[in-house]
Amino acid sequence: ASGDADKGAKVFKKCAACHAVGDGAKNKVGPQLNDVFGRSAGGLDGYKYSKAMVKAGAEGLNWDQGTLTTYLTKPKAMIKGTKMAFAGLRKPADIENLLAYLAQYSAE
Ligand code: HEM
Repeated sequence: ASGDADKGAKVFKKCAACHAVGDGAKNKVGPQLNDVFGRSAGGLDGYKYSKAMVKAGAEGLNWDQGTLTTYLTKPKAMIKGTKMAFAGLRKPADIENLLAYLAQYSAE
């Protein structure tokens, strides 16, 4: 990714009420985000997703730079019925930086 991971750590504060990432990250309101790159949508065992998210994964949605960018721009536009109560990030640079930060915690 081409973003700035340090700046992305600051953007992640908008996510941290609901998501953990890094060593020992646990599910909170939302699923933990270790190895989210390469994860099938709705694919983390032990977290109870919305039906909409499970369906998206079953239909082949996989999280990568492109799909995460679309989702985080406007979650409810991409996945109608997602229970993620977050309007989205309006600045493309914030998303790039955020994804550089999250990529540090993904093997893929
Ligand atoms: C789901 C990222 C903000 C609650 C997800 C997923 C991603 C994600 C990638 C799908 C994960 C998967 O399929 O395993 C983010 C990021 C955020 C953010 C990067 C900040 C920019 C929030 C906030 C909340 C939240 C603020 C709570 C108010 C949830 C919930 C789900 C979810 C409940 C499950 C959605 C469903 O099953 O439909 N998030 N999120 N997220 N997130 Fe977030």
